[in-house]
Amino acid sequence: MKICYVTSEFTPYAKVGGLADVSNALPSSLAQAGHELNIILPFYKDLKVDHSLIHPIADLQDIAIDTGPDRLIIHGYRCPFPKTQDPSHAPNLILVRCDSLFERDGIYGNTSDEYLRFLVLSRAAIEFCQRLGWTPDIFHCNDWQSALIPLLLRSVYEWDKMFSQSRTILTIHNIGHQGVFPSVIARHLNLHGYEHLLHQADLQHGKVNYMKTGVLFADALTTVSPTYAREIQTSEYGVGLEELLSKRRDNLHGILNGIDPSEWNPQTDPLLAANYSINNLKPKLKNKQRLLENMKVDVNLQSPTLGIVSRLASQKGFDLMFDVFPELLRTRDVRLVVLGSGEQRYIDFFTNLRQMFPDKVGFYHGFSNEIAHLIEAGSDMFVMPSQYEPCGLNQMYSQAYGTVPIVRKTGGLADTVSQFDPNTGNGTGFVFEHFTADGLRWATHFALDVFSSPKHWNKVVVNGMQQDFSWTAQAQQYLELYKKTLSRPKL
Ligand code: ADP
Ligand code: GLC
Repeated sequence: MKICYVTSEFTPYAKVGGLADVSNALPSSLAQAGHELNIILPFYKDLKVDHSLIHPIADLQDIAIDTGPDRLIIHGYRCPFPKTQDPSHAPNLILVRCDSLFERDGIYGNTSDEYLRFLVLSRAAIEFCQRLGWTPDIFHCNDWQSALIPLLLRSVYEWDKMFSQSRTILTIHNIGHQGVFPSVIARHLNLHGYEHLLHQADLQHGKVNYMKTGVLFADALTTVSPTYAREIQTSEYGVGLEELLSKRRDNLHGILNGIDPSEWNPQTDPLLAANYSINNLKPKLKNKQRLLENMKVDVNLQSPTLGIVSRLASQKGFDLMFDVFPELLRTRDVRLVVLGSGEQRYIDFFTNLRQMFPDKVGFYHGFSNEIAHLIEAGSDMFVMPSQYEPCGLNQMYSQAYGTVPIVRKTGGLADTVSQFDPNTGNGTGFVFEHFTADGLRWATHFALDVFSSPKHWNKVVVNGMQQDFSWTAQAQQYLELYKKTLSRPKL
């Protein structure tokens, strides 16, 4: 099968969150299974790869894209795929170069041309296929940044019969970000007489919504866990798209993300102080020691250490910690290590917490893959009390690393962590239901109490490490969906 996978993030070259990890691991699994993949990614200025390895693709030079009043010139570049099981079966990674849009700091921005940056990514994916004479069976779009592709194929590119059998899939990684822009941008979409296809009520309200457009026109929709697929059909989680999603429920599939074992495996992880496994857990303590030293907190290997690695966004449930953590740190002998960047109020919260409890709290403000790996390995518990969580990867990484997750029962967290019961010995973590400080307080104290009983703690650790979150089965589910979508008439 030929799959054109369009994404705004890619591990390790351009990462903000889990979309980057998925955009590497899923195409990689599909390619290893013998399928042909072209991944299309913007050529960001900060791309973390040796630029001497990136080369222009002759057929993809000087392509003009008319976006209403403007004409932009784009170029395609080949970039090596990072390490993979079998390099002869790696996906192609093609970068979209357009300096006026991507030669700037950061991946996402707050500038008024954000709509144009990702319109151009979407147009580029289609234009590149044309120039390469490569007809994808599936255009796999991810989040609002490539959600216009289904509409573009029905309008701007409708004339091109090379796509007449192609189908589109839109994966929703996070419905909290929809790409909503003022309706004046509609003329830049340059829809050639197909403007009526845009959501008319939105236009009347002065808006164009990229994600909604994708939800309306993609042949099939997926999201990254079965529970989130159900949740987004409700007003509590659908962020205004619940009715449309509910109408399309027969074509909305929840497929859980997986873990890339070449990146997240405590037995082989080169970023750890010591490697370890389910049969040899002792070296995990060396990671704890290094973590506490690096984070400049009092090293006590007997005290439980709570870890956090996260975008500092309200989605992740930090508001619940405002009450719970100061009290916890006052009353119990715990350590807390936090890695994250994002909203100022959460940066302030963790900075203050560090000042109040300098022996117990470590906070690294920023992005660091090395520290992320060390937190997963060196902590005893991982805290993720999300308000909503489409899938979440860190709770899966944690389980693989013998670090027990404390989570709220929502989205992918509900699908990947089960409540530990000391009586039966079943369960992989500590799960609370309602998004309240009391819920988080209850789950954290429960976890700390179980920690004080080594026999029980060892059980919950081992249960987590025995979980299989590999991509193989998940990639198979995507393949089945691709096949099913191809066997059906277009939307
Ligand atoms: P989301 O995509 O909503 O941010 P996920 O749990 O799916 O949440 O994925 C987050 C990914 O980003 C994980 O791989 C996590 O380790 C990584 N990550 C988040 N913040 C940081 C950070 N500050 N430094 C390093 N890695 C981070
Ligand atoms: C989003 C979600 C996260 C998910 C990731 C990858 O950023 O917030 O839950 O794991 O995408 O699908």
